[in-house]
Amino acid sequence: MYCKRESCNALIFILIYAIFQVIVFVFIFFNNAVPTLRLEQVLIFSRHNVRTPLSKNLARMTSQPWPQFNEPCGYLTKKGFMLEGYMGKYFSEWLYKEDVLPNRCPLEEEFYVYSNAIQRTLFSAQAFVNSAFPNCNITIHHVDKDIPDPIFTPYIHNSSAIFRKIALEEMKNVLNKLKLDLSYKIMEDILDYNNSDYCKLNKNCNMATDENKLEIIVDKKPQLSGPLKICNEAIDEFMMAYYDGFPMTEVAWGRLNDMEQWRPILDLTASYHNVTFNTTHVANDIAKPLIQYMADKFINKTSKIIFLMGHDANINVFLKAMSFKFYSLEDSFVSTPIGGKVVFQKWYNNYLNKYYLKINYVYQNDEQLREGHALSLKNPPKSTLLELKHCKVDENGFCPWDEFIEFLNSLILKMKI
Ligand SMILES: *[C@@H]1O[C@H](CO)[C@@H](O)[C@H](O)[C@H]1NC(C)=O
Ligand SMILES: *[C@@H]1O[C@H](CO)[C@@H](O)[C@H](O)[C@H]1NC(C)=O
Ligand SMILES: *[C@@H]1O[C@H](CO)[C@@H](O)[C@H](O)[C@H]1NC(C)=O
Ligand SMILES: *[C@@H]1O[C@H](CO)[C@@H](O)[C@H](O)[C@H]1NC(C)=O
Ligand SMILES: *[C@@H]1O[C@H](CO)[C@@H](O)[C@H](O)[C@H]1NC(C)=O
Ligand SMILES: *[C@@H]1O[C@H](CO)[C@@H](O)[C@H](O)[C@H]1NC(C)=O
Repeated sequence: MYCKRESCNALIFILIYAIFQVIVFVFIFFNNAVPTLRLEQVLIFSRHNVRTPLSKNLARMTSQPWPQFNEPCGYLTKKGFMLEGYMGKYFSEWLYKEDVLPNRCPLEEEFYVYSNAIQRTLFSAQAFVNSAFPNCNITIHHVDKDIPDPIFTPYIHNSSAIFRKIALEEMKNVLNKLKLDLSYKIMEDILDYNNSDYCKLNKNCNMATDENKLEIIVDKKPQLSGPLKICNEAIDEFMMAYYDGFPMTEVAWGRLNDMEQWRPILDLTASYHNVTFNTTHVANDIAKPLIQYMADKFINKTSKIIFLMGHDANINVFLKAMSFKFYSLEDSFVSTPIGGKVVFQKWYNNYLNKYYLKINYVYQNDEQLREGHALSLKNPPKSTLLELKHCKVDENGFCPWDEFIEFLNSLILKMKI
């Protein structure tokens, strides 16, 4: 070495110090500077899975024979039970991957299940937990089966005359804007409507000119009767037959073989839901108890994961009441698909030391439903980002949790909950 002893020591010291600095920097960089996100809380609002048709009027719409389901009217089908189990399997894999569940059999403060107390929702919830947490004793909470649960029953609450007047006006406005003549013609053709009891006995033969009637009655769903309702019921049957796996010759008597044939009639389904559950006063009134329930879960955080099992009408009204932005779900006949889940997630960003909200619509697409594809992290269901008008998301779909809570509080005030 050509240096003096003292300066050599100094050089070695500087070198060691520099290496130390690099190590510290690398350590800090990988622990902190790269934002790591931790899942803190999840609320899943699910629609039940594939069921038999609800309508009692199918035989009056057509003289053609309808496919025969094995289960009673409005029940979850065997296939629906299997499909919901696939969802349960996927969600448990996701939750374990994100490290939110410490136990194989979660405790209630970790995973809390609350379902509407009717067969198709209770059995859907059971199918989900059976697959998500096999051989665990998980309670599915629900109210007494004899009383409609206000959280899940899309009934009108407000009994004032002024409410009824405004609600009917709003519904009428949506109804009057619809342009469905072509869709009606196609449905008349599929149903062979001229030979139906509705036409032959009731003299309702022309869907485009037959009257749609609206009614608002307390403790009942918003009522729509007439051709739009008839079409919605028939198309619901077509979809359930398709998802349940009936041969295509039995789905709408072989008349719906590609998306070009489905699309015009699906406008009728979207319009039906738009009239009945997507106007301001009706949606706010019906969604009130559910929004109050969810707000309590978000704000008071009684359980880490809340799993709610209800209906498309519930999703329709809270999406409207909470001012979600328009979204579209790829390869799904409808905007609130069977078995689909709105997944509210609270994430913690340790770099910014801040909490964020992210909302996804997680659903089985038409093919996954019909073909009965098993789901896993490798073969996931579809997922679409949802956005609230009042909580602006960043490029990764996160909006500040505080902003969301502030919005919820103002919404509760506005709705006079
Ligand atoms: C399952 O849980 C319920 C309620 O928590 C309890 O009453 C029941 O005894 C448990 N059953 C088993 C087999 O552990
Ligand atoms: C019923 O609706 C009317 C009109 O929107 C509203 O002014 C009133 O506060 C509502 N009543 C209740 C109990 O929510
Ligand atoms: C629902 O109704 C609103 C108001 O009439 C309209 O802007 C919207 O396009 C409709 N959506 C569908 C899917 O029909
Ligand atoms: C149904 O009957 C009406 C009146 O008789 C006729 O104009 C119409 O073309 C018929 N529709 C079909 C699909 O046969
Ligand atoms: C609900 O109505 C709003 C307009 O008020 C519209 O933008 C939205 O697309 C409708 N949603 C559905 C699912 O039709
Ligand atoms: C949170 O819990 C408190 C105490 O039980 C209750 O008073 C409050 O209403 C809850 N918050 C919401 C938004 O429900």
